[in-house]
Amino acid sequence: MEFVHKSIMVDEILQSLNIRPDGVYADGTAGGGGHSRAIGERLSPQGTLICNDRDPEALAVCEERLCSLNCHLRLIRGTFSDLAENAGQTFDGVLLDLGVSSYQLDCAERGFSYMQDAPLDMRMNPEDKLSARQIVNEWSEAELTRIFFEYGEERYSRRIASQIVQSRGKAPIETTLQLVDIIKSALPKAALKEKQHPAKRVFQAIRIAVNDELEQVRLALDSLVENMNDGGRIAVLTFHSLEDRIVKTAFARYERPCTCPPEFPVCTCGKKSLGKVLVKGIAPSAEEIEENPRARSTRLRVFERRFEE
Ligand SMILES: C[S@@+](CC[C@H](N)C(=O)[O-])C[C@H]1O[C@@H](n2cnc3c(N)ncnc32)[C@H](O)[C@@H]1O
Repeated sequence: MEFVHKSIMVDEILQSLNIRPDGVYADGTAGGGGHSRAIGERLSPQGTLICNDRDPEALAVCEERLCSLNCHLRLIRGTFSDLAENAGQTFDGVLLDLGVSSYQLDCAERGFSYMQDAPLDMRMNPEDKLSARQIVNEWSEAELTRIFFEYGEERYSRRIASQIVQSRGKAPIETTLQLVDIIKSALPKAALKEKQHPAKRVFQAIRIAVNDELEQVRLALDSLVENMNDGGRIAVLTFHSLEDRIVKTAFARYERPCTCPPEFPVCTCGKKSLGKVLVKGIAPSAEEIEENPRARSTRLRVFERRFEE
């Protein structure tokens, strides 16, 4: 299957990264290499592009698609929370385009989709230990309820978790469509008529848990911000409110880290600003959303590292 993924907000990202042809730029979520290519084409032979992904298939595609770029290209396989350490160099710009690629979603056997039958998997890195099958069949009812509620914002989290536990008591739940049927059977009739697919929230929750997605973002931002050059920018594309809140809060904390009570006349905590929030959650244009409905919930946030604010 061909790796197809339509890159989102490419112009806005290029503009906000303010690319220097001889700079060092990292794409922490290289995927099909769309954003990477756009960045790499603006670099000179003195510039460096680092493509990172935890999915080996994505990295293989990037290697093939980007080898003709006229800059220094480095490919790193790993999580973006380890990117700063693995790269061993500081950055002038970093992009994180969070979540899964269209390729991962459309590739039935990866088990991300509630539309196609496949073994329950959802691992971005197939070598990771935890899979969706394990979560669905082994996690306690309380844990399932928690992740459906917290990561899926699912109103019927309790009912769905209870139905899963009942069902797996008879036989293990093996496939995506088996899980979809169980979710549907737990929902009241009215919920089944909603516009959104009835399994969307639970699938999102399980995917986040399998890949530890929210913790990945927290850890990555804290390590990347410490490894940016003066004037270097971190651009993040988020796809749902949970990850967007994490990015927004982290960037606000880097800009104003002072923890002194507001009534203190001078700062005594000594925490210095790391830079400035440049872009506060802009959405793609109406034309882009029309052309690519997967961009509907995207928000772009950008932070600029400044030494000695
Ligand atoms: C939305 S796609 C990126 C698409 C890419 N920007 C493009 O233009 O083709 C997200 C990619 O990030 C990867 N990814 C998600 N979380 C990751 C993490 N914590 N560490 C490394 N890669 C991650 C996924 O495997 C996927 O390939």
